Amino acid sequence: MAKALIIGTGAVATVGAQKVAQNYKVFSHLIIASRTKTKVDDLVSRCQKYPLQVMGETVDAENVDALVKLIQKYQPDIVMNLALPYQNLPIMEACIQTKTHYLDTACAEVRDHAGFEYGTQWVYHGRFKKAGVMALLGVGFDPGVTSVFAMYGKKHYFDEVHYLDILDANGGDHGYPFATNFNPEINIREITMPGRYYEAGQWKAIPALSQFHTYPLEEIGPRDMYLMYHEELESLVKFIPELKRARFYMSFGEKYLRHLRVLEAVGMTSTQPIMYEGRPIVPLQFLKAVLPDPASLGPRTKGKTNISVILRGYKDGQEKAYRVFNMMDHEEAYQETGAQAIAYTTGVPAMIGATLVVTGQWTGAGVFNVEQFNPDPFMDLLNQWGLPWKESFDPKLID
Ligand SMILES: NC(=O)c1ccc[n+]([C@@H]2O[C@H](COP(=O)([O-])OP(=O)(O)OC[C@H]3O[C@@H](n4cnc5c(N)ncnc54)[C@H](OP(=O)(O)O)[C@@H]3O)[C@@H](O)[C@H]2O)c1
Repeated sequence: MAKALIIGTGAVATVGAQKVAQNYKVFSHLIIASRTKTKVDDLVSRCQKYPLQVMGETVDAENVDALVKLIQKYQPDIVMNLALPYQNLPIMEACIQTKTHYLDTACAEVRDHAGFEYGTQWVYHGRFKKAGVMALLGVGFDPGVTSVFAMYGKKHYFDEVHYLDILDANGGDHGYPFATNFNPEINIREITMPGRYYEAGQWKAIPALSQFHTYPLEEIGPRDMYLMYHEELESLVKFIPELKRARFYMSFGEKYLRHLRVLEAVGMTSTQPIMYEGRPIVPLQFLKAVLPDPASLGPRTKGKTNISVILRGYKDGQEKAYRVFNMMDHEEAYQETGAQAIAYTTGVPAMIGATLVVTGQWTGAGVFNVEQFNPDPFMDLLNQWGLPWKESFDPKLID
């Protein structure tokens, strides 16, 4: 039996913690630590209806010494970082010092520079290896399941994959004129960066949200899918070296984009501090404070997500195409966990990744991405834990 320490009590942690608690045949102890005590107490009480020991603590996850003390106190088998990408590096540092497995759902970021790359975490490989423990990076849906989908398709249906497209569509409607489905600061930073994709051995950049394709999607209809950069492109290109092209698309509605463009035009999405009434404030952080809390979207959101990976390549000399996808209903997610589908589709894979590590199905010492392991047990657990997937062998392709 294993002990998990979850850091964070936001939307994703709300799902991740309850899924760990539901998996009480693997996890006997769950420790939930975050910086706001009331939120910790709420999440602990949600998880206490399951037959495992659940405890709460407060911690500043940017303080390595405090994290080390917390880990030493409870001696978890794995630390699941479900806080923010700003906390990845201090939590990794604490895991190295205490020789504890580590997992996160998004790659590390720093506050004053919009940009995300795995390089800042891959450099920890030698230290994790020396400590004899694993850091498993990017185990949400995207990144996370999208990479597992790609590796599963490659393993079972292709000798070589040449073209890869990821389509992340959210058909959910929360009724607000403008709100983000997860942490607004992280979400808006990622969307307003230039789009970037991989082609013919090079990374190519285009202005943010300047290219889209309309794609017909099961259950949610045709959606405008905008080309964006997303971190799993970096690991997929590394671990599927024969790829000729890899792109990531996300759906946005006209209303959302109109609001975003105005906010951007007036400077509200900037990460550079400005002086306001004698003190520095970061416009994007202020915007986060006035936007609806993503956790509050749960009871209002109706509709489904539809996230897929399309592969094209060769098997036994024949050209092949394949699409694998999951659809998740926002209201179903909310009924089960009190959080909407975006949080659900992130928290479930995080629990699955932790399960595979603590049960020794995915092993290794060092820093790893999910592409480096056998995708089959992960795919089985997706079906078992609420994120069933479907396949198509004649998908519509994007030029
Ligand atoms: N891979 C994917 O598919 C995917 C999809 C969506 C999100 N994500 C990632 O999931 C993570 C969580 O997203 P979310 O929507 O759950 O965010 P959220 O609702 O804003 O929650 C963040 C949590 O982190 C806690 N936190 C922040 N700073 C802290 C600190 N210094 N010390 C301790 N706790 C701290 C917050 O505490 P307070 O409650 O006190 O604010 C909150 O509980 C993010 O990294 C996001 O990028 C991944």
